[in-house]
Amino acid sequence: MSHTLLVLPGDGIGPEIVRQGVKLFACLASEFRLDLHIEEALLGGAAVDACGSPLPAETLALAREADAILLGAVGGPQYDGLAREQRPERGLLALRAELQLFANLRPALLFPQLAAASTLKAEVVSGLDILIVRELTGGIYFGQPRGIETLAGGERRGFNTLVYRESEIERIAHSAFATAQRRQRRLCSVDKANVLEVSELWRETVQRVAEDYPGVELTHMYVDNAAMQLVRAPKQFDVIVTGNMFGDILSDCAAMLTGSIGMLPSASLDAGNKGLYEPIHGSAPDIAGQDQANPLATLLSIAMLLRYSLDEGALADAVETAVGDVLEAGYRTADIHTPGTRLVGCEAMGDALVDALRARRR
Ligand code: IPM
Ligand code: MG
Repeated sequence: MSHTLLVLPGDGIGPEIVRQGVKLFACLASEFRLDLHIEEALLGGAAVDACGSPLPAETLALAREADAILLGAVGGPQYDGLAREQRPERGLLALRAELQLFANLRPALLFPQLAAASTLKAEVVSGLDILIVRELTGGIYFGQPRGIETLAGGERRGFNTLVYRESEIERIAHSAFATAQRRQRRLCSVDKANVLEVSELWRETVQRVAEDYPGVELTHMYVDNAAMQLVRAPKQFDVIVTGNMFGDILSDCAAMLTGSIGMLPSASLDAGNKGLYEPIHGSAPDIAGQDQANPLATLLSIAMLLRYSLDEGALADAVETAVGDVLEAGYRTADIHTPGTRLVGCEAMGDALVDALRARRR
């Protein structure tokens, strides 16, 4: 079966990490007989520069047609002064919303070779394997009304709305329970139900969905406590489900447990498992174009793409194993470099990964 993939390099380090992804796709096509048809389009600041919109109509059309999408990153300081609608981030948010990619899976998995690279003690993080399921198309990111208005006396007032409908909570809860069922069957729902009505509804609804999944143990935690527990005793978690903004914050926090945010992939799925796959680290403008970025989060995102959108679980496993192999062989980009390991750039890391994958095949 032929698969159409769309790659969106985006901004900052996006193009260089996505280039490593394209190398991996080429290897999967030539040596693992995957029939891939790859298109490329503009998103974010690169799209603003080229055609004045962070999500051009052509990109959206290609995204709708694709079976899966690989994104590098969007954003950069040169776009900070733009009107809100023109910001690179708006392109990404609009793409998530247009394609209804409501289920954002963010695994925080520690490769044993990187235990020493975490800022936390090795014994706190070794063996870590958490999955954050973040609701991605609702909550305060999209709630109306929103804006900045000028009050009678001339003072300005900014406002956003944190809103969730029961149906939105139900569908993300089903995704999270189904995911937990395939793991250690423990789900922790994170909210702020001691203060927010929307969280009260969230908690009640998740509780109700739990009745469909008797094999999964459900717990609830307030978001402030969850932030603390993530750095105090992260291994207590299996799957975490939470809303859009809490998930944004907690997933960056969880990322650091694994040694570097440069290691974390993500999948954003719709109801039919079509997905957008992206590293969670962002565009890192400070190191863009210097061949220093870590491409492993992008390559691990491709593993997720293989697993969730292409139904190629064995190939996904092979890519993840190959990442373990290159780490075992001592290859490290600057963000995960520790004494005694071998410092390499983005291109060399991409090459090493493809070589490791080929070697496993023989
Ligand atoms: C993320 C990012 C985005 C978000 C930004 C770039 C809009 O931080 O994917 O976590 O806030 O969702
Ligand atoms: Mg974020």
